[in-house]
Amino acid sequence: MKIGLFDSGIGGLTVLKKVIENFGNHEYFYLADNLNVPYGSKPISFLRENLKNILSFFQTMKVELLISACNTTDSIVKKTNFDTKNYTFTYVSIIENAVKKIGRNDSVLLLATENTINLGAYKEALLNKKIVKIEEKACPLFVPLIEEGYWDGQMAESVLRFYLQDSKSKYQKVILGCTHYPILENQIRKYTNSSIVDPADGIVDFLKNEVNLDRLDGKIKVNYLVTGNIEKFKFLSKIFMKDVKYHPIFKKIQL
Ligand code: DGL
Repeated sequence: MKIGLFDSGIGGLTVLKKVIENFGNHEYFYLADNLNVPYGSKPISFLRENLKNILSFFQTMKVELLISACNTTDSIVKKTNFDTKNYTFTYVSIIENAVKKIGRNDSVLLLATENTINLGAYKEALLNKKIVKIEEKACPLFVPLIEEGYWDGQMAESVLRFYLQDSKSKYQKVILGCTHYPILENQIRKYTNSSIVDPADGIVDFLKNEVNLDRLDGKIKVNYLVTGNIEKFKFLSKIFMKDVKYHPIFKKIQL
């Protein structure tokens, strides 16, 4: 199947990696809009217009499935009457599938971008499931930290400590409500001592159970389409995807 994924940068690779691990050789198109990173603190009106361009772009690419590998834009879809039905692809929401991983009695800490928290799509989805023990924390320094390649070491430690020092053993589940955050998953687990929910697992469940996507054998190819600094994206994606046997192709594009 022809599958599109998009994010503001390398975050969505945390989704792509799990999709590849589970479903193998489909035709993947990954849009890294790193010209506009971070999405988490940009004006919603700008991101909404930009999202229209992204969806039109994938329409012209004729993808059959478009996976939102970005919680911030998915929040915009959910909370600003953004119509994803007028396209020829099926739009896969990350938030809807993440929330399926939470049980009714769980106490939850949602970590996400400022825009995601302020838009409130996660909170609404959790409350609709009668999940009421919810705390939210925006972590705006995580995305720049990760996009600059500081995934461990002193710099990462001090940012993690800044946000999470008071979160130890207080929650059953911690939702990594930004696709960049699973890159810091081990450290977040250590700081919170909670069970971690990676929304990418919810997407994999959806593709298995609702789309009935098959696992295909053969050489895996990913087309990376990058709007900003392509060398930086290439460098970091190679590190993150180092265990994945595949053939990446990088191309600079303009939306
Ligand atoms: N990784 C994206 C998300 O899931 C966007 C983060 C950002 O660019 O601030 O929200």
